[in-house]
Amino acid sequence: MSLRAPRWSAPLCRLGCGGALSAKRGIAPRTAARDARLTPEAMPAKHECRASRPAPRRPAARRRGPLTEAFACLAFLAATAAIPAAPAAPPAQAAQAAQAAQAARTGAPSDADPWWRSAVIYEIYPRSFQDSNGDGIGDLNGITRRLGYLESLGVDAIWITPFYPSPQVDFGYDISDYEAVDPLYGTLADFDRLLAQARQHHIRIILDMVLNHTSDQHPWFLDAARSRNAPRHDFYVWNDGRSVDDTRRPPNNWVSLFGGSAWQYVPAVEQFYYHRFYRQQPDLNWRNPRVEQAMFAALRFWLDRGVAGFRLDAITELFEDEQLRDAPALGGVNAQGDPILSDVYTKNLPEVHGVMRRLRAMTDSYPGERVLIGETYVPTTAELDAWYGGAAHDELQLPMDTLVGLGSHLDADTFRRHLIEEQTQLHHSQPLLVFDNHDNVRSWDRYGDGVHNAQIARIIAALLLTSRATALLYQGEEIGQTTATPARVEDVRDPIGITGWPKQKGRDGERTPMQWDDADPQAGFSTNPHTWLPVTPNYRTVNVRRESADPESLLNWYRSLIALRRGNAALRSGRTVMLDTGNRDVLTYVRVAASGEAVLVSLNMTARTQSVAPALAAAGVRGSLLHTLLSSPAALPDAAADARIGLPPFAAWVAMLR
Ligand code: GLC
Repeated sequence: MSLRAPRWSAPLCRLGCGGALSAKRGIAPRTAARDARLTPEAMPAKHECRASRPAPRRPAARRRGPLTEAFACLAFLAATAAIPAAPAAPPAQAAQAAQAAQAARTGAPSDADPWWRSAVIYEIYPRSFQDSNGDGIGDLNGITRRLGYLESLGVDAIWITPFYPSPQVDFGYDISDYEAVDPLYGTLADFDRLLAQARQHHIRIILDMVLNHTSDQHPWFLDAARSRNAPRHDFYVWNDGRSVDDTRRPPNNWVSLFGGSAWQYVPAVEQFYYHRFYRQQPDLNWRNPRVEQAMFAALRFWLDRGVAGFRLDAITELFEDEQLRDAPALGGVNAQGDPILSDVYTKNLPEVHGVMRRLRAMTDSYPGERVLIGETYVPTTAELDAWYGGAAHDELQLPMDTLVGLGSHLDADTFRRHLIEEQTQLHHSQPLLVFDNHDNVRSWDRYGDGVHNAQIARIIAALLLTSRATALLYQGEEIGQTTATPARVEDVRDPIGITGWPKQKGRDGERTPMQWDDADPQAGFSTNPHTWLPVTPNYRTVNVRRESADPESLLNWYRSLIALRRGNAALRSGRTVMLDTGNRDVLTYVRVAASGEAVLVSLNMTARTQSVAPALAAAGVRGSLLHTLLSSPAALPDAAADARIGLPPFAAWVAMLR
């Protein structure tokens, strides 16, 4: 994992790993009413991309902080009544919208495609989404309250980060009971209500599942650490260590991604246990078949309740070298002061694929197309293919492609290369694109140049929602929430930010509360003035209520793109043809449906006007007129398909070929 710009994704881990880091019986098919509501008629067709707020200058430290680097190893959401369900477009714009929607509506989703293929999946970090009981921390009932908002945005599924009982050392990623709800977040009955109500809103629920490690307070570990003969001792990775100068030392040089040795000594058993993350997160021993049985049982507990699938946390870390060989040093030290080591013995070990195949077979035995998403920070697209099961397609349906979206350079060439790799190196598997999550500096700050962040955010959204990929959004991304890294160590909550300060400032910045409105200092997130992380002061202008009412907001740009994608067969499932491939400044491609209908996307990634030569006929795509469906900035005019086209700085243009 990497922790700062890109926190989890850099191809090479600077911390030291050497790697780059329906209900049970099926959800009812989308109803006609829903499709009508979410087709583009309801949305503004053309978008002016004027920044609705001044773009803050980006502090240099935010772009490339050391925490990102630590995680480079895992090479690492009611709309309440007050929020309108759909943006209120002025009459003229609504008419344009209806016209464009008519032009864009090229077919309904094909029944042959599994739901997740064209889905928009929205990550919810529950601590920071919506507090319903006034304790300053978000909860499950808060999510239930905001389902209307999520439906109006057009999301198909939500992935909720861990809400199971936990000491909260890693804010839920240290689980002490896999089959319950932490009282902090509510009750199992609250979860069942959320699931049932989400179904009413046509939203599936995907859970975060931490298979690599448990909390050190999990009953299994408490038992394991009691005695070498305890029934669960072999559930974890133990070793006697080595004796150096009559002192017992860890068995090898492995370091934790969160700092320090990856080994912790337990006097009661006179052994060390291995922990890839915090010492309160002991790694499970997946070489023990009983671990697989126990964890699969936990997964079944939730599948039986009706969840749509799982996001598998840190899944690349499941196995370690059996011989516990020292990791080769790569030179230098990381932000925590540890030597930078290769992760060849601690990550992506081949044994993990057997577990993935058995897991897939198990989830496939359930009706309703349950889906497996992987947190798969790998250094190349070719390596990502292995996580799908290659040509066999028998492992994860959606391992995350962190190479495209978790970088920090807005560069047409790089995006083009990665998108071509997705087309050619994945055995036709479905890519999953992600630009934001709870571990990385927000894309607003990573890709933004400090001046044109608002336009750049629209480019990112267009890329995410018009390329041939399932789209993963992170709460707040759709309104342009910014990264608010604490300025003082005493305000830091993420432990790695406390121990790593000032080089490593932690992940609080991207976890601040969701900004719903400007009604009170808590931005509609909580009634408690002391929220667990402070609300970012820009909530007065950057919030859901305000952006819902502004047809030109980033939020309505997202809504328009999602609606367009849902209503348009070319964008939903068409093949991709890259165009103008020698152009280093503008990324241009056309999505072509089986029927021949085609939509062109052109993204100017520079601050200068650029000219594009789509040469559609030469690329074998027929049509004479490019009719604008969505554009930013301003309404870009229609253009002849064979002409050179001028694109304003940071323009995003989506046009239908006629
Ligand atoms: C994943 C989570 C991250 C967590 C880590 C350890 O990378 O996204 O937030 O700290 O796993 O569980």
